[in-house]
Amino acid sequence: LWSDIATCSVTLAMIKPDAVMKMGSIIEAIFDTGFIITKAKMVQLNRMEAMDFYSEHQSKSFFTDLINFMTSGPIIALEVIGDDAVSSWRKLLGPTNSCVARSESPGSIRARFGTDGTRNAAHGSDSIASAARELEFFFPSSGGRGPKNTARFTDC
Ligand code: TYD
Ligand code: MG
Repeated sequence: LWSDIATCSVTLAMIKPDAVMKMGSIIEAIFDTGFIITKAKMVQLNRMEAMDFYSEHQSKSFFTDLINFMTSGPIIALEVIGDDAVSSWRKLLGPTNSCVARSESPGSIRARFGTDGTRNAAHGSDSIASAARELEFFFPSSGGRGPKNTARFTDC
């Protein structure tokens, strides 16, 4: 049981536009590593939403390239639980730049499915606080229109 693992926690994983066609292999890697997916949503971000999600990077030179890429097609947001989920998901992701990932962490998701420093296949929250903010961004507790998010994975 996940409840036997004291450090069981939650993070936000995202499959970026360049890797949505490879979602099957990425989800397989997520399960093979022992994570469980508890929420999933495919959406296309508009520029306002992408700029909000990545607001910490608004002053960076790569910001416009990042927003252009992140709005170029649909993305898949995933709520992922597991043992120390924030850091273990980022470990499975590998280094930010997929070229670096291919030399430093060849089995990682960014090495296998990404292209370069911008088109890097997937995202992971960088802290427990970021995970809470980013999960609320994609899966707001207030819900909005349609069926409410009442699904609960009770094993964690
Ligand atoms: P960052 O938060 O530094 O990396 P990570 O995704 O590993 O937490 O940067 C956010 C995204 O911005 C990154 O996934 C890809 C893009 N990016 C660039 O396009 N160029 C860069 O030089 C950097 C550092 C990031
Ligand atoms: Mg980051």
